[in-house]
Amino acid sequence: MKKLAICCFATIFSMTAVVAQPKLTPKNIDKIIKELTLEEKAHLVVGARLKGNAEAAGEVGYTKNIVPGAAGTTYPIERLGIPPVVTADGPAGLRISPKREGDSQTYYCTGFPVGIHLASTWNNDIIYRVGEAIGQEVKEYGVDVLLAPGVNMMRNPLCGRNFEYYSEDPLLAGKTAAAMINGVESHGVGTSLKHFAVNNQEINRLANDSRLSMRALREIYLRNFEIAVKESQPWTIMTSYNYITGRHASEDPGLLETILREEWGFKGMVMTDWSGGYDAAAQIAAGNDLLMPGSYAQYEEIIAAVKSGKLAEADLDICVKRILELIVRSPRFQGYKYSNKPDMDAHAKLTREVASEGFVLLKNNNMSLPLKEKKVALFGSTSYNFIAGGKGSGDVNRPYVVDLREGLINNGFELNKELDAAYSKHIAAEKKRLAPQKALRKWFVYDLRPNELQRPHDDIIKTAQSDAEVAIVTIGRNSAEAFDRFIERDFMLCPDEEALLTAVSREFHKVGKKVIVILNICSPMEIASWRDKADAILICWMPGQEGGNSVADVLLGKVSPSGHLPTTFPISYEDVRSAKDFPRNVPENGLNQSRFNISEVGKIYDVKNIDYTNYEEDIYVGYRDYATRKVEVAYPFGYGLTYSQFEMSNMQVKECKEGYKVSCEVKNIGSFPAKQVVQLYSSELAPEVDRPVIELRGYKKTPLLQAGETTVVEILINKDDLMTYNEKANAWKLTKGDYDLLLGFDSQTLPLKHKVTITKEKLIPVSTLMKPASGEIFIK
Ligand code: BGC
Repeated sequence: MKKLAICCFATIFSMTAVVAQPKLTPKNIDKIIKELTLEEKAHLVVGARLKGNAEAAGEVGYTKNIVPGAAGTTYPIERLGIPPVVTADGPAGLRISPKREGDSQTYYCTGFPVGIHLASTWNNDIIYRVGEAIGQEVKEYGVDVLLAPGVNMMRNPLCGRNFEYYSEDPLLAGKTAAAMINGVESHGVGTSLKHFAVNNQEINRLANDSRLSMRALREIYLRNFEIAVKESQPWTIMTSYNYITGRHASEDPGLLETILREEWGFKGMVMTDWSGGYDAAAQIAAGNDLLMPGSYAQYEEIIAAVKSGKLAEADLDICVKRILELIVRSPRFQGYKYSNKPDMDAHAKLTREVASEGFVLLKNNNMSLPLKEKKVALFGSTSYNFIAGGKGSGDVNRPYVVDLREGLINNGFELNKELDAAYSKHIAAEKKRLAPQKALRKWFVYDLRPNELQRPHDDIIKTAQSDAEVAIVTIGRNSAEAFDRFIERDFMLCPDEEALLTAVSREFHKVGKKVIVILNICSPMEIASWRDKADAILICWMPGQEGGNSVADVLLGKVSPSGHLPTTFPISYEDVRSAKDFPRNVPENGLNQSRFNISEVGKIYDVKNIDYTNYEEDIYVGYRDYATRKVEVAYPFGYGLTYSQFEMSNMQVKECKEGYKVSCEVKNIGSFPAKQVVQLYSSELAPEVDRPVIELRGYKKTPLLQAGETTVVEILINKDDLMTYNEKANAWKLTKGDYDLLLGFDSQTLPLKHKVTITKEKLIPVSTLMKPASGEIFIK
């Protein structure tokens, strides 16, 4: 009997042992990979948008299950304890649906200032805090990976996604991204640094070929990513839609394995942009681990490729491993009980604070700002219809937007009643007029702006002569993913805006009243031709949900502006070095403006600036070009006024192990408490190769300095930062010779200078693996 019992027990035990499935843990990933079938592996690497899986698909980038409105999820495999992880967009906050069917709770997320605005703070501490706040919303709303930040270069002011990005300078962009990533990831959730790489135009974004030299690639278009990767190790990176010199970014092992992982030491996972790339097996073989949001065709392609030997199963396993490594880090895997209640009040305060810190004061004649006047004539349709952020995946479903009208009223300004009533009526009528078009335009298409109110000139005279003490005119510009901007009526003022500015300026100045212009804009525009009409010009970019309150804080002088331009404002569009190598003036015809249909996806045709774009300007992007060619600009890179004046002195340079410690004293010599940004540039005095006359090497924002207060700022510069990329040697090269280190508050005014000498040449060879698909399409 006993024997039998033992035998039965043994049989039952061994049966259980056969059917028991191991469950994923951080320690058994290799074992789990052995358990996975080929089909399951293919599922894991293509995301969850599969045949019949409508809930996880929704519209592209708009899921309906788990966290509605998220951009996509990975594929769950229950038998092995592998949960799906949820990815959702950024970068100006988390983008999910604010409402859910049959649920009275709302799920709004804080609308922070957009990327170009955050970078204008030049303050990595505050960007880290914004990252922390966004990270908390990501975690508390049950999301695992934020699809942000976007770090692409502002190569041309017309790029439709400049608002999401940080700068024309790779150092500023890379450091800003690192601060944001470190902030978000401090909550134990992931980010996705995007779009890797050389993704600088939106027209024909799925199939455009960016053709550039290895030097431009290394010094400009990869440098931003390199800095961000080395300083923050993001959980994931998103490859871009475009080709780079003939090879798709998501299918290039030189880019993804050799440069990103071997050279830079990236430890995380790589995913595609949504439906990006054409050859699923090539993407997996290249080390693009996850294809998002995934399609059934890709799933079948991968299985077939392994079966036919086109794709090695070992390569597939590497991608699966990286996905599992991400999954075990995720809050969802760890069973985090999210609250759906992030601290929205604290984040509203933070967005109000950071927005005002990033405003850039371009002009302030006779200290027109801060305003002593309280009675305001508020002009400009945008004042009544503020633009909080750009459109597309970077748009946030924020709970509200405080426009300028509301912000001024909230903060004790008195608006001219007649004008206010006229504009309110006008905006209501314009919204009605634009409603049918708005309904036709999808969520990612930018909204058409209301026209300017055509006030009879006599009415403007009447308002100028009324008890209004000052005029404020807001000019607005919106833009979106998949579209690039226009020169006419976009980069340039529209005729109705120009007429308004001229009339207001003439009539208010006649009666001795000031005119303040607020620029609620996405990217640079032309200012030089009309700036004389204004006494003060303040860029408030796209300031997020508290925008009107933040502007009021600055107008009242509760806060001094301390933002500096992260990109140059040229005098005219033709001054932009890439002007002829960028799509221009594509006619505005709503949805058709998107070039999705023009180039057949996946094929390279030969229409310049549509199918391919030559980066003829090479490394001369933004100020690197204007400063070297000595082209006059409207406002240089790094420029920004405060309500005070500052002086820098006592520059010290001490050689140290890493390079040089550069310091100076900064004194607030005005009468207003303010912060200032110290910028450090280098200039090689007798370079053996062509190189820009100045390049940003470091920066630091001071704390708030009271009138008369002095602080010492120290910036560390590594000697290797002075290198150029040498194409012949295929190496970074530090050349012997003299270099000036220059300090200033903007790139054009660099009052302090110190010469250092490099006595030893240094070469750091890099991989040659990232080669153009065909030699002749490389631009030299
Ligand atoms: C955008 C990405 C975004 C993704 C998911 C794409 O269209 O280019 O930036 O993260 O959609 O929504």
